[in-house]
Amino acid sequence: MIPRLGVNIDHVATLRQARGENYPSVVNAATTCFNNGCDQLTIHLREDRRHIQDIDVSAIQLVTKKFGKPLNLEMGCAPEIIDIAIATQPDWICLVPENREEKTTEGGLNLLDSDICQKVANTCKKLKEKIPGIKISFFVESDLSVLHRVAELNGDAVEIHTGDYAMAFLNGNDVGNFLEKYNQAHKFIAQKNIGFHAGHGLTAESVTPLLEQGLFAEYNIGHWIICEALFDGLGPVVSSLKESFQKYQVGQA
Ligand code: PXP
Repeated sequence: MIPRLGVNIDHVATLRQARGENYPSVVNAATTCFNNGCDQLTIHLREDRRHIQDIDVSAIQLVTKKFGKPLNLEMGCAPEIIDIAIATQPDWICLVPENREEKTTEGGLNLLDSDICQKVANTCKKLKEKIPGIKISFFVESDLSVLHRVAELNGDAVEIHTGDYAMAFLNGNDVGNFLEKYNQAHKFIAQKNIGFHAGHGLTAESVTPLLEQGLFAEYNIGHWIICEALFDGLGPVVSSLKESFQKYQVGQA
């Protein structure tokens, strides 16, 4: 299987919100991504609504349905956001930690904290009850003690936080320790029969060693794609990134 590319289009909405205009259109962005080989759209409805707005969620969902591709909604565990998720019925939900002061999601869910773990478990249970067929992933660090907690939750995948790896890669540092940790995490997760996804901070260059490892079935990439689109256009950036995935298989490193 060729790894899947999920494109996170939050930053199309960031540009729009910066001026309070109604452009650039997230619907056009979503359509362009699918016309250029993207496998899923990812959006994060944050409590502070700094980029994606409530109305965007349903507008983007119409595009995912038209293309027959999944909508992956990233969200924290706030009751108001849970209600919107239930009303929307996306295909996937990725549960993430959320903190108003952060520039972006800064790390995985700290499931070693029993209060956080309980909140995530309750959210997961409610979403599974209220959204038939929903698949849930947990955004976590590649840490075996956290992954043991994940295994106790009724989830469908983990999304490993690759932000620190990507930063180390871009700074020219050795990333061998990250790759080793991803291998160990994958061994554990594969036994549990749930999906192994990656996301955060990735670029076409930093994703390559991960593709070579063949461990992750899905990559969710946003900021770099939207930045590159300034120079090359969204369609060509998505299409060449997806094209670069074609020579790799999941599970055949
Ligand atoms: N995956 C998750 C869980 C995220 O929170 C984000 C950022 O919203 C991404 C992937 C995409 O990260 P980036 O925009 O850095 O590529």
